[in-house]
Amino acid sequence: TRISCGLIDPDGGKLVSLFVDSSQKELKKRQALSLPRIGLTRIDLEWVHVLSEGWASPLKGFMRESEFLQTLHFNALRIENGAVVNMSVPIVLAVDDEQKGRIGESTKVALVDDSDNTVAILSDIEIYKHNKEERIARTWGTTAPGLPYVEEAITNAGNWLIGGDLEVIEPIKYNDGLDRFRMSPMELREEFARRNADAVFAFQLRNPVHNGHALLMTDTRRRLLEMGYKNPVLLLHPLGGYTKADDVPLSWRMKQHEKVLEDGVLDPETTVVSIFPSPMHYAGPTEVQWHAKARINAGANFYIVGRDPAGMSHPVEKRDLYDADHGKKVLSMAPGLERLNILPFKVAAYDKTQSKMAFFDPSRSQDFLFISGTKMRALAKSGENPPDGFMCPGGWEVLVEYYGSLAPT
Ligand code: ADX
Repeated sequence: TRISCGLIDPDGGKLVSLFVDSSQKELKKRQALSLPRIGLTRIDLEWVHVLSEGWASPLKGFMRESEFLQTLHFNALRIENGAVVNMSVPIVLAVDDEQKGRIGESTKVALVDDSDNTVAILSDIEIYKHNKEERIARTWGTTAPGLPYVEEAITNAGNWLIGGDLEVIEPIKYNDGLDRFRMSPMELREEFARRNADAVFAFQLRNPVHNGHALLMTDTRRRLLEMGYKNPVLLLHPLGGYTKADDVPLSWRMKQHEKVLEDGVLDPETTVVSIFPSPMHYAGPTEVQWHAKARINAGANFYIVGRDPAGMSHPVEKRDLYDADHGKKVLSMAPGLERLNILPFKVAAYDKTQSKMAFFDPSRSQDFLFISGTKMRALAKSGENPPDGFMCPGGWEVLVEYYGSLAPT
């Protein structure tokens, strides 16, 4: 039975939800007390959140070895009925030798937060080798030192991975004033149904919205209306999990996005703003598949992709880590994403002849200005303004305030 008819089916046909039934909560909590206890880092908790709500459907817990290997080697999982779903980023939990020793012969473990509260139970567990070099090389395409997620979550992690079926006791909350924006895939589906959306187009982002981003979104809406859709709804879906130190923190991005809607750059009537709980890998063409796949589960059947999605500068060399066009090319061919309509976009830049963001025209490249993140930071930090038409004034003010709040460097 489909919850919201008309929306794209989740991967595997049924949206996974890994919460313990409320009648079972106390029992499970008590059972957990007698199990080996494994502490979760902040990023581990973000993955528990992702798994619990079914963003990774049909995955039902941290990956066992077969899922890990399929992810690394095929960017896809073969499911029970023989079908293939996309899965490009390993969702794994590392344990060290001491923890492995404590787990011993137990078939279950309790996963606990830093106050030692039971968050979840992992059952029917499998412990296997965490080959970090292979994981990093295959996910990022490089083992160059300085990859943010690797340094944060892999380098010092244990040499074993533990997979199994996850049962989550309570929904993950952050109590940062933003939890109401963290809609689950099911809640998003309900919202799209409530709005009678006949197409849902998703926009993944981890940066403030400038008018180049907005151009991609408004152009998509125009194209969908042209194709005959009557009520396309935009999912503006900022990533809310781990991001690298020089990215704008989520709370500031949310303020900035609010201004973008207030200033009329995007239409609140046809836009749903919500937070995607996944941590960020900065793994370019590999990661953009995860970004797209997760949005199928939330009901999106169109996915916008522009320049260098999930990209970053090479950590050692003076260039981008990934080819800026590979993300959209890979996405259009990715195994298991055939049902998703990919909307690839050319790079947008500031057109000095029109004083606005426009699609870059290489035949008159001298008319265009590329305003990088670094450039934006430098302007906002020194209280200068970007050229008119780059970003709405309300949104820019938020960035000036954010960079102003940082200690001088
Ligand atoms: S991402 O890590 O979430 O991909 P970002 O927030 O910078 O990074 O980008 C969000 C989306 O906008 C991605 O699809 C990206 O390709 C696209 N994008 C960002 N900047 C531009 C640009 N100048 N021109 C075209 N597309 C862009």
